[in-house]
Amino acid sequence: MADDRPKPFRRSRAVAPSSQVELNRRQFLRGGAAAAGGILAAGGVPNAIAAGRAENLPPNVPPWSKFLGASVDAHPYGMPSPHEKEVVRRSVEWLTATRESSINFTPLYALDGIVVPNGLCFERHHGGAPEIPPEDHRLMVHGLVDDALIFTMNDLMAFPPESRFYFLECAANGGMEWRGAQLNGCQYTHGMVHCVQYTGVPLKTVLQECGVKPKGKWLLVEGADSAGMTRSIPIDKAMEDCFLAYSMNGERLRTEQGYPLRLLVPGWEGNMWVKWLRRIEVGDQPWYHREETSKYTDLLEDGKAREFTWVMDAKSVITNPSPEMPMRRKGRQVLKGLAWSGRGAIKRVDISMDGGRNWKTARLDNPVLAKCLTRFYFEWDWNGETVYLQSRAMDEFGYVQPQVQDLTKVRGVNSVYHNNGIQTWLINPTGEVENVRLG
Ligand code: MTE
Ligand code: CO
Repeated sequence: MADDRPKPFRRSRAVAPSSQVELNRRQFLRGGAAAAGGILAAGGVPNAIAAGRAENLPPNVPPWSKFLGASVDAHPYGMPSPHEKEVVRRSVEWLTATRESSINFTPLYALDGIVVPNGLCFERHHGGAPEIPPEDHRLMVHGLVDDALIFTMNDLMAFPPESRFYFLECAANGGMEWRGAQLNGCQYTHGMVHCVQYTGVPLKTVLQECGVKPKGKWLLVEGADSAGMTRSIPIDKAMEDCFLAYSMNGERLRTEQGYPLRLLVPGWEGNMWVKWLRRIEVGDQPWYHREETSKYTDLLEDGKAREFTWVMDAKSVITNPSPEMPMRRKGRQVLKGLAWSGRGAIKRVDISMDGGRNWKTARLDNPVLAKCLTRFYFEWDWNGETVYLQSRAMDEFGYVQPQVQDLTKVRGVNSVYHNNGIQTWLINPTGEVENVRLG
């Protein structure tokens, strides 16, 4: 079965590996400003959708103002505007051996705020996404407990609910970039992350219902999918903030995200957030299953792998400009990005225009929540010069996101997981933006 390891590595400066990326590039090249002979039209155009059709512009009255619109029966479940049809999850075909055990990526470049809409949350399945009737789903809790119990979904929903915002990042996010710039788009370099408002019940509540014996120090959590995903989780983390979610962004979980029940392990690597959760065993030691030994451990230069690197350290990415969001005008600009830390809240984000020599502080948008995406903005002027753009996140404990060179000094380049190095975007005088590796 395929894992999160990218194959094969493409060693070039900034390559668009899939036909979809190429399509993207061609599409934006064809769009608005490009028609004028380059991405940056003479005099600059405000944005890609500015051109418009003269017959629909003032003083003319467009057809949508003259005729009735769609009825309330047209969309029992609403969909995005057809004009936003390019904003979708995308995958990279060569990355995994099969389409079921595979990954797609969140289109970060197109998002605002901190909440990722349900239909755009990246997916990572090891055995495809099963369709489970909620009435046939059970959660079994057993092992070192006073009462081994089997819960129905109705049982779980009868506990007092809570709602919480958290990011989930796959440990393999950016895993393709260890040996240099590979994928030309922030959807691909950083899109194995999403942020959702979950509703459900704290795991602690359910564990207390069963009564964990004093010897119970570890949990084995297991999914009901064909991959039978299992991970070991220390009891302290389970009692601190692990969570059983049945809803996301106000509606029941999507099939792809674990319907009808998923585990949240806030701030820790996405692999532990077992979807379609069916079993929790309480034990006195970790199980050392596949996903915490041969996978999801960090291989160092000397061939040794680090054991249990669960926390996702502080990280950030500039989503606009980015390869998918080239510069469309000179002068005043608003840069947009996202930062997150698995340890807590983001404290500060800095922006560099010269590859990390000088830094200025970005503006954090509210809300700034722990273990959650944080939106940042930065206002600046661009006059057509070459820019090596970087963002650097710092969390509330003073941890600073490292430059890639500092990260690889310690970790080497054999690793796949936990790449939180600083991203560099090269802004060319044409306005095109590229993924590059400095130094
Ligand atoms: N849980 C089950 N049961 N099966 C899986 O394949 N994939 C894991 C985790 N939980 C997986 C799973 C991995 S590697 C990640 S990164 C996250 O789910 C992805 O969650 P998402 O698909 O909601 O983005
Ligand atoms: Co993952």
